[in-house]
Amino acid sequence: MVKAKTGAAETAAPAAPAPSAPAAPAPSKKDAPRTMRDLRLAAETRRRVSTAKQLDNPLREGLRLERVPDANVFVLFGATGDLAHRKVVPALYQLWRTHLLPHEFVIVAVGRRAYTDEAIRAELRASLDQFSRVQPVDEEAWAELAERIVYHRGDFNDPALYSSLGERLDDMDAQRGTRGNRLYYLATQASAFAEIISQLGRAGLDHERHDGGWRRVIIEKPFGRDLDSAVRLNREVGKVFRERQVYRIDHYLGKETVRNLLVFRFGNGIFEPIWNRRHIDHVQITVAESIGIEARGAFYEETGASRDFLQNHLLQLLSLVGMEPPATFGADALRDEKVKVLRAITPFTPDQARSEVVRGQYGPGWVSGKPVAAYRDEPNVDPVSETETFIAARFTIDNWRWSGVPFYLRMGKRLPKRATEIAIQFKEVPHQLFRDSAADPEPNLLAMRIQPDEGIMLRFGAKVPGLGIDVRNVTMDFTYGSAFQTDSPDAYETLILDALLGDASLFTRADEVEQAWSIVDPVINAWADEPAPAFPSYEAGTWGPEAADDLLAREGRRWRRI
Ligand code: BG6
Repeated sequence: MVKAKTGAAETAAPAAPAPSAPAAPAPSKKDAPRTMRDLRLAAETRRRVSTAKQLDNPLREGLRLERVPDANVFVLFGATGDLAHRKVVPALYQLWRTHLLPHEFVIVAVGRRAYTDEAIRAELRASLDQFSRVQPVDEEAWAELAERIVYHRGDFNDPALYSSLGERLDDMDAQRGTRGNRLYYLATQASAFAEIISQLGRAGLDHERHDGGWRRVIIEKPFGRDLDSAVRLNREVGKVFRERQVYRIDHYLGKETVRNLLVFRFGNGIFEPIWNRRHIDHVQITVAESIGIEARGAFYEETGASRDFLQNHLLQLLSLVGMEPPATFGADALRDEKVKVLRAITPFTPDQARSEVVRGQYGPGWVSGKPVAAYRDEPNVDPVSETETFIAARFTIDNWRWSGVPFYLRMGKRLPKRATEIAIQFKEVPHQLFRDSAADPEPNLLAMRIQPDEGIMLRFGAKVPGLGIDVRNVTMDFTYGSAFQTDSPDAYETLILDALLGDASLFTRADEVEQAWSIVDPVINAWADEPAPAFPSYEAGTWGPEAADDLLAREGRRWRRI
């Protein structure tokens, strides 16, 4: 039985035991939701629940019926790195703060550098000031989590790391009641993934125990850099872990608005009947970022927008828009349908890759009133780099539902603003009665704003008040902020919690990752065979190269102004 995270006592401050000492239940005030927000959060998480577990603190009964993960050790590889500081630990802190982690929970931070437990805790605490989405940091909640963080030093290539880690994890089970459950989180450079996984296997750290101790692994993106490397990595992973133990992250799937796409499509009766080629003219998916590549020049030089975005985030959004309704909400039913969509995209021939895909790179310009440097002048970027910071592509999904409906996808760095949107452009009415209207009535449009200003907008024509018949476009707008008046969890909170609960629905399956690469590979290969592109091809602070506009203009369409 999962114990409640804290006892009923509400007064004593938590004593911080030595890292290896048995963890006494840390009494605190945490059990009492302190604000209306906490109450709403608790209510929201209750709704996620499929099974309620018995809690051993009667005071919590009725207050929190959500499913709390089993006791476990969260083994964080790459704990001293950027991702751990920016995303993973702030998400764990937030889960802890909102009572969504079990009491018997330990984070083993694994890294190459020398740290004491105190030093890593202090460093992670400092990062929360910058990266926690809720400020100020709740010191009491942090103190409770911090005493559960220990540091384990070692070289990822050294078998000695894994044998000592194994012993340490066994000690945790004995001293902290973590019951053999382990989540390995690979937040390292992608080049270390295969090595860490095979070393975990060699040390037997993948073995699930007969008495129920589970082992899971979360693997960050990028998962491979092309189809071959993704297949190889899947093979290495598959030698050690079963697919049900593997959680490949695409954090877009954890975004609240992306998850709402499923609810919007399959939780409402009125949209599904029109969600097809008979009613939809085309779909536009835009991910605009005003930021450049920040301090990630070396990483971006190796990836570019095709690998960083198209292969994963953009194709994930496309498959959620294009998929058939799954029979159940189970992980495999959902992922089966997503893979089917990807399979229905015929890979580009080299000629199509040239005509249906546009790449661009930003030159100097102005963003948000400030001058910004060209991509080629960013730190750690080759001054004659051919890496693309913008991509736009026209896809077709060759099946009964979508035949003939173009899906235009675009993503760019250093565009005028940050905005991610899916726009469903409906067809013109079959027969226009209101031609004499002062403004031309436009076809209906459904815009799903993924971020920021999350919400959904439906555009339709309405009669302008007056004696004649003038039609003007009006909108019905739903915004998350005003409808629910609550913050959404960060994608990493959702995904980490799901992995701890054993729910893989929002993670990418091996076949899905490979299928996505088989769509992107021909594009990357076609580019490799071409003469060097005329980069830079767009000014920072603009909407990308002209060729991206031409991609739609030649079919009589244009990108929606966002
Ligand atoms: C990451 C990409 O996966 O997603 C980054 O590597 C990008 O280049 C980021 O900026 C965007 O994430 P979000 O959640 O800010 O939209």
